[in-house]
Amino acid sequence: MKMIGDFKKMKKTEEKITMLTAYEYIAGLLAEQSGIDIILVGDSLGMVVQGQKTPIGVGLPDVIYHAKAVRKGAKDTFLIVDMPYMTYHLSINEAKANAAEIMIKTQANAVKIEGDSAGRIDVIRALIDCEIPVCGHIGLTPQSINMYDGYTVQAKGKKEQEKLVESAIAIDAAGAFMLVLECIPEELGKKISKEISIPVIGIGAGRFTDGQVLVWHDILGLCEKTPKFVKQYLNLKKMISESIKEYVSDVKECQFPEKTNVYYPMD
Ligand code: KIV
Repeated sequence: MKMIGDFKKMKKTEEKITMLTAYEYIAGLLAEQSGIDIILVGDSLGMVVQGQKTPIGVGLPDVIYHAKAVRKGAKDTFLIVDMPYMTYHLSINEAKANAAEIMIKTQANAVKIEGDSAGRIDVIRALIDCEIPVCGHIGLTPQSINMYDGYTVQAKGKKEQEKLVESAIAIDAAGAFMLVLECIPEELGKKISKEISIPVIGIGAGRFTDGQVLVWHDILGLCEKTPKFVKQYLNLKKMISESIKEYVSDVKECQFPEKTNVYYPMD
């Protein structure tokens, strides 16, 4: 299993870090077998698994349930689990207890938290003080959806860009081991990756971050719509629906089961 020190070395040697989300046993198994560096059990599961519009309804039991299944399939891959909305906002003690529950129940290697407020920096420090590695997440932070006009590119103006650089520096200084940057201009992704000491993983943050993360359902073509930053490697949705149609037709036309699918066939 690659560990935090390996990711630091990868940044230094400019070897790109790969991260992919996963939400279940088989996805964990396949991601590990395919050589992914890091698996993220993201609260994007609210959208892609639970069919919600935002991650706001995802709770601690949800991420724990999915992360336990992923860990069963991916025993030897660095695993990060998202801390859901309102599990690290109310008090430092609650954040510590919730992060500890994730780490203990799922055997994850780290948690990820969104945001860059002063309170958030305190939470990062407090979790690290409890030996819980933290990955930060700034830029577009989906848990803040109700503060935005929609999911759009962040930090387009000079002021916002300066603020984002400051936030990245503060998260690095607080001791986070990694930072996810979501949906920002490419130049800013490059600048932040150069400026801070920890690996920066981009999602819609351009080509020059230290690594990339994408959502399982997006790369495999399981979603209705995908954002511009996604590369879809397969049209699994089409393949699945064609396969189901074929199965339905086979049963209706008595083409399935065949003799080879039957125990003690009569002929
Ligand atoms: O929830 C998630 O899947 C994420 C990634 C998109 C970075 O936070």
